[in-house]
Amino acid sequence: MIAFLNVLETIVEDKIGHLNPAILAHVITNRCNLRCKYCVFWRRKFGDELRTDGVFSVIDQVEELGISFYSVTGGEPLLRDDIPDVLKYAHDKGMVTTLVTNGILLEKQLEKVVPHLSALSISLDSHLAEHSTHRCDAKTYWKIRKNIEKAAECRKEHEDLKVNINTVITQINLHDLMSLVKLVDELEIGITFEPVVVMVPESPTLAYDEEFRRIIDTLIEMKSSDYPIWNSKEYLTLIRDKETFDCCSFLLIRLDPDGNVIVPCYHPEVTTKVGAIKERTLKDIIDSGERKRALMTSKDCHRCYLTNYAEVSLVYNNVFKTGLEQFRLWLEA
Ligand SMILES: C[S@@+](CC[C@H](N)C(=O)[O-])C[C@H]1O[C@@H](n2cnc3c(N)ncnc32)[C@H](O)[C@@H]1O
Ligand code: SF4
Repeated sequence: MIAFLNVLETIVEDKIGHLNPAILAHVITNRCNLRCKYCVFWRRKFGDELRTDGVFSVIDQVEELGISFYSVTGGEPLLRDDIPDVLKYAHDKGMVTTLVTNGILLEKQLEKVVPHLSALSISLDSHLAEHSTHRCDAKTYWKIRKNIEKAAECRKEHEDLKVNINTVITQINLHDLMSLVKLVDELEIGITFEPVVVMVPESPTLAYDEEFRRIIDTLIEMKSSDYPIWNSKEYLTLIRDKETFDCCSFLLIRLDPDGNVIVPCYHPEVTTKVGAIKERTLKDIIDSGERKRALMTSKDCHRCYLTNYAEVSLVYNNVFKTGLEQFRLWLEA
């Protein structure tokens, strides 16, 4: 509850002209054990990652700034052995901790991370292995499916833990989305959708055509019938109509593995380094002219519907409707 009050305070401050972030989105490594065709992370140079003590220092600074949401992503975060310690460090400070993973290493790590997690998000694009070959082979696919079931099972012991799958919508899986919703409904977990952002030539694509709109309409109906679709209705309508939205990327600090803060996001066409945590404090970087200028340049960016940016922006722009809807969903999930 305190975390949500902190977010509300940040929103109020930002509405009166500040550019304070509410979430730390930490790309803790670019390394990955998969080579998904739409993904840019495994294609990046690996460079030096912050060590565990460096990450702890970031979390300390984040706490001092009053930020209560710490989201760990990658690359594949579970390739780092210190992830349970990192999550524990943030969780023990009362932060809301989330982990986004491809699910492969949960076999070994699930029990270690779960006590320190508020929410676990596992990527799955289809209920069919043959529609997942842009992510992995069939053997790996079934391993991930098994680990998703284990994570769902875990909720019996850890009632407060939220578990969802995250599904990237492409032309390959367009007709699988309803089956995925039914699958998560049976497992009593949630699902979030995001349309693919085409950033590399090998990427699967998505035609925002009549068929796509029909399927999103069905998802909106399923959400209204209480299927566990965790996107807001506003988000689903936004992607159905391919509308633009006012992206509030200032609400997220995106930290790269080497400790560089990037603005506004990782899309190769707009990504800008605005400061390195090894050289300056996080507060310095957040208040810097470099960050403000990069935010101004990217103000009218309409390149993606990545859920963490779009949903956070929709909440910010419509606190009393989408904000309350998403807050209620979080409490009930
Ligand atoms: C970059 S991955 C990092 C965490 C982890 N390796 C995983 O796959 O869940 C985070 C999420 O972004 C999604 N993603 C990757 N590339 C994307 C793209 N081009 N467009 C939309 N979503 C993408 C992945 O499917 C995953 O759900
Ligand atoms: S598993 Fe995640 S980080 Fe790895 S290649 Fe796939 S989307 Fe990218």
